[in-house]
Amino acid sequence: MTQGRLLINSEMNQRAAVATADQVKALIRSHADGDDTRFYAIAMQVAAQAARSGHGKFALDLRGLVDQVKARSKATGPGNGSKPVPLAQPRGELAGLLTVGYPKTRMVDMALPEVLSARLERVLIEQRERYRLREHGLSPMRKLLLVGPPGTGKTMTAAALAGELCLPLFSIQLDGLITKYMGETAAKLRLVFDAIRSTRGVYLFDEFDALGGERGSGNDVGEIRRVLNSFLQFLEQDDSDSIVLGATNHVGLLDRALFRRFHAVFEYSAPTAEIATRVMRGRLALLDTSNVEWHVAARAAEGLSHAEIAMACEQAAKNAILNHTAIVRNAELVAALSERSSAHASARD
Ligand SMILES: Nc1ncnc2c1ncn2[C@@H]1O[C@H](COP(=O)(O)OP(=O)(O)OP(=O)(O)O)[C@@H](O)[C@H]1O
Ligand SMILES: [Mg+2]
Repeated sequence: MTQGRLLINSEMNQRAAVATADQVKALIRSHADGDDTRFYAIAMQVAAQAARSGHGKFALDLRGLVDQVKARSKATGPGNGSKPVPLAQPRGELAGLLTVGYPKTRMVDMALPEVLSARLERVLIEQRERYRLREHGLSPMRKLLLVGPPGTGKTMTAAALAGELCLPLFSIQLDGLITKYMGETAAKLRLVFDAIRSTRGVYLFDEFDALGGERGSGNDVGEIRRVLNSFLQFLEQDDSDSIVLGATNHVGLLDRALFRRFHAVFEYSAPTAEIATRVMRGRLALLDTSNVEWHVAARAAEGLSHAEIAMACEQAAKNAILNHTAIVRNAELVAALSERSSAHASARD
């Protein structure tokens, strides 16, 4: 293994140690995590340190090795040089309960208020450093509740967390699970939580309100209560390495007992003009937008969700491509946004 050789195959054995114990541990951890970027960064750190402490040849060799390995993985790896995607396909009964994907979404693709993105970055840091936290008896944040109106980025956040951590994203549609298998839901939930324990991934319980409705309200009270209670138990007992996310539009409907079981609640809201502009700039980044007057477009986007803005941008982008210009016209973008706004308004009436 190249990584192992990096440490052994050098003058390091004969001379004073040039890598600290922490660096060696971090190298092994990043290798175990398959986190190549971090692995290379630490190796380069060791090289820099070696150069500073007079081990010039070792530093040079190490840099050379890292460059070689990087070039090789770029040449042989799929797509942009990332590792082969591990296959985790739900089988048997589980297949009907979970769908799996390997999203490429990243945090930079999302336009979010600073406070929210800082909190999500914190989740990522805790996940990446989970071994270090665990060594000190601490556990990373991993049970998160995402709350907010439609189209504001809850499902996208699940994809971005999975994308950033190179984990599979498993989605569990609770409404299907409950209505289809009324009496058996608790048993199915157990299967899902077994999967959560055995296969590390991001698990998204989408449309969580189906399960999280205030206990004691609604028709099938007894059944829903049993299901909710077993969900709460499973969630509480779950001390796996997976990330468990609940997403819902209706915070008002959710049971207090649920909130306590999550490590954190993240609130999503309709975009401000600044965020709307970021969504549009991101969506149209590959085209010529010199004709766009962003403040005018932002005003036209008022009242629309991130998802609706993204769709309007797509329409304007298609127009640009179909007109063979690749130039996004301000008027066309504003028209696409206004069209969505009026569809919105008539749906509300
Ligand atoms: N914060 C955001 N930044 C950039 N794009 C966004 C954002 N939120 C949503 N979008 C765009 O809208 C699409 C739909 O968003 P998403 O599915 O995450 O919404 P949601 O909050 O899960 O909505 P729902 O409550 O209806 O499930 C995304 O795939 C993305 O294109
Ligand atoms: Mg969603």
